[in-house]
Amino acid sequence: MNLSKFGKKFTGVSGINELMIDLADAMNNNTEMLMLGGGAPAHINEIDALLRGRMNDILNNKREYEAMIGDYDGPSGNTEFIKALAELFSREFGFDIKPENIALTNGSQSAFFYLFNMFAGDFPDGKRKKVLFPLAPEYIGYSDVGLSEKFFVANKPKIEFIDDHTFKYHIDFDSLKITDEIGAMCVSRPTNPTGNVLTNTEIDRLGQIAAENKIPLIIDNAYGTPFPNIIYVDATPVWNDETIICMSLSKVGLPSSRTGIIIANPEVIKAVTQMNAIFNLAPGGIGPVIALELIRSGEIIRISRDIVKPFYKKKMEKAVALIKEEFEGINYYIHKPEGAMFLWLWFKNMPIKCSELYERLKRDGVLVVPGHYFYPGLDEDWHHKQECIRISYSQDDKIVEEGIKAIGKELKKVYN
Ligand SMILES: Cc1ncc(COP(=O)(O)O)c(C=O)c1O
Repeated sequence: MNLSKFGKKFTGVSGINELMIDLADAMNNNTEMLMLGGGAPAHINEIDALLRGRMNDILNNKREYEAMIGDYDGPSGNTEFIKALAELFSREFGFDIKPENIALTNGSQSAFFYLFNMFAGDFPDGKRKKVLFPLAPEYIGYSDVGLSEKFFVANKPKIEFIDDHTFKYHIDFDSLKITDEIGAMCVSRPTNPTGNVLTNTEIDRLGQIAAENKIPLIIDNAYGTPFPNIIYVDATPVWNDETIICMSLSKVGLPSSRTGIIIANPEVIKAVTQMNAIFNLAPGGIGPVIALELIRSGEIIRISRDIVKPFYKKKMEKAVALIKEEFEGINYYIHKPEGAMFLWLWFKNMPIKCSELYERLKRDGVLVVPGHYFYPGLDEDWHHKQECIRISYSQDDKIVEEGIKAIGKELKKVYN
């Protein structure tokens, strides 16, 4: 195949692609594998039952069902759903959000492809701009979406030690430089992989920096408020003309519906809508129809607050308690788990690299994600990049428990 630059870039070897194949292989060929590596949400019985009930109602309503599967929506997405979202967000965020501030995408992952490439890359005046991640480590899924080379730049964090085994990353504002070559900033809040939630002060300050520099601040709210609300600390959202909030129905329990939501100023929304028309004709309509009543009634807030959040919080607490027992004697730190569904474990001065730990754990039957993948834009050699792993606590308790025990056992061998 004679491939274009685009073809080469998106079909070539990428770290994340190799890792995903590796994870899928291990899972398919070994059903005994303890999967602490993926980012899939859990199946929560009450949520599954609720969504099944909603699906039954749709199936029993001839017009609704046929419209759901048989009609294209417009390129910004299902208008009823967007209207209901605007009302919900205005109520919940306390901001004036109208339907023209919202567009849907096929999963929020594709929103990042649009937004990053809109604001960074090659510009008509010959300039080249980048997306800045103010706080590394950041979400692995951003790594390869840029259409040009050297697309990202990331800032190393400040590290706060909270107790003997807990730490938290903060944005190092002293070293955060917004040069001419920065086209946009992006943070995930809560952060995948660390479970960090940027403080209200950090977010306010980023908002001000974005406004002063007239660049967008993209906030990836895939785990945040008001849904799925997998966030265990107080976190106030920000909103102004420079803020773009990306949300998703995935982590409430609808990942296969591929429903992403962008909230932004009308100019950005218009641009996203035009891209939707070109790349997809229209975003998928199944998720919006399933979730419409939940959004309209505000029930989505209740289920996120009363079912989804407590479910993950309990699992997080169990996982942390078990780590404390099983990792006794090991020089480990857990990033303060403030949200999402991951624990970020740091083994300070570990004698091997996290990629080797990953291989050893795979041999022991446990899958984790080695931390070095989570530094898009941070090319510098920094030992910390080799000392962390991400584990997910979304799987069944038994799997998480056995996985953590096996990690503790392997670490003891590593340190001895
Ligand atoms: C931080 C973050 N952002 C975005 C996404 C993309 O989610 P989706 O495309 O399913 O909306 C994920 C998925 O795991 C994520 O962890």
